Amino acid sequence: MITVEKLSKRFGDVLAVRDLSFTVAPGAVTGFLGPNGAGKTTTLRMILGLVSPTSGTATIDGSQYVDLPEPVRSVGAVLESTAFHPGHTARTHLRVLATAAGIARDRVHEVLALVDLDHAAARRIGGFSLGMRQRLAIASALLGDPDVLILDEPANGLDPEGIHWLRGFLRALAVDGRTVLVSSHVLTEMAKTADHVVIINHGRLLASGPTAEFGSLEDSYLELVRS
Ligand SMILES: Nc1ncnc2c1ncn2[C@@H]1O[C@H](COP(=O)(O)OP(=O)(O)OP(=O)(O)O)[C@@H](O)[C@H]1O
Ligand SMILES: [Mg+2]
Repeated sequence: MITVEKLSKRFGDVLAVRDLSFTVAPGAVTGFLGPNGAGKTTTLRMILGLVSPTSGTATIDGSQYVDLPEPVRSVGAVLESTAFHPGHTARTHLRVLATAAGIARDRVHEVLALVDLDHAAARRIGGFSLGMRQRLAIASALLGDPDVLILDEPANGLDPEGIHWLRGFLRALAVDGRTVLVSSHVLTEMAKTADHVVIINHGRLLASGPTAEFGSLEDSYLELVRS
């Protein structure tokens, strides 16, 4: 369970997130929606302890990220700008992360298979396509077998088949009882993937609830962000 409570973030003159509260339940995919600059990435980064809130709190199963005893095993994250060493192979990249986190090497093979990247395990990341990098970022997030997954626009760069794969993948994680929070601009896809949506704009909550209650998600979204 992720709990965001009265969260605010100011960058100089910009109030990126304003008094934002919502919860993300386990066993479901929650879509985090909002226009460019709405504050989605900033909120996700605050949940992950990468940006410190100006006020309010974000907790994961009751603890702030910094207080989690084994963060890699609790929370996996796929962020917008994941940095890879281009000279490393996918396998090496994952082994380095696994070693740093005290995770058994066998897990590297498992996560590569989970994201359908086992065939490219020995290839250098510098030669990876955008979609392959995105899959590798997802594999990295899964290394610690975390109960909570936070993904910032994971569909970016994926082809239609890849997007379809991602949908099934996120759904399976949720069915497994995990907490899945995913931001995306692809509303047609979110309508099919997310059980629940949280919609923000200008850093504020516009709406949250079961996806089914929004009727046409795209129409509801456009109405909300234009009002
Ligand atoms: N490090 C920073 N310094 C200054 N301003 C920032 C910083 N990070 C974000 N902002 C500002 O905060 C606001 C929210 O940005 P954020 O990246 O959270 O939006 P977003 O919803 O993720 O947008 P997008 O859909 O384009 O990814 C924007 O006005 C942005 O310019
Ligand atoms: Mg963003």
